[in-house]
Amino acid sequence: MTDTATWVAACKLNELPKEDVKRWDHGSKSFAVFRTADDRVFVTDDICTHEYAHISDGFVMGTTVECPRHAGCFDFRTGEALNPPACNRLKTYSAKVENGTVFVQIG
Ligand code: FES
Repeated sequence: MTDTATWVAACKLNELPKEDVKRWDHGSKSFAVFRTADDRVFVTDDICTHEYAHISDGFVMGTTVECPRHAGCFDFRTGEALNPPACNRLKTYSAKVENGTVFVQIG
């Protein structure tokens, strides 16, 4: 098996407040980059799995994000949909912080 995934710099950690989310556009896709209160970072697709809305415009509570359009909630650590009308999980991506920069693994 060939590993073609690459780590791409998304933003500076200090541009992303704790317990918040930031949109990151790369190529033809939008991603949602999350930072927890204890400085962990997580990345999901930015487009909701229910209808068209940017998850990064949503409201972050702990490790949950509420979609701004119909209030479907997702656990951004796993992408799991937590309540209707959201029922399909968000795709998640590996993320890490090195020297103050957030990197996302894109395959
Ligand atoms: S568009 Fe996100 S819950 Fe409907």
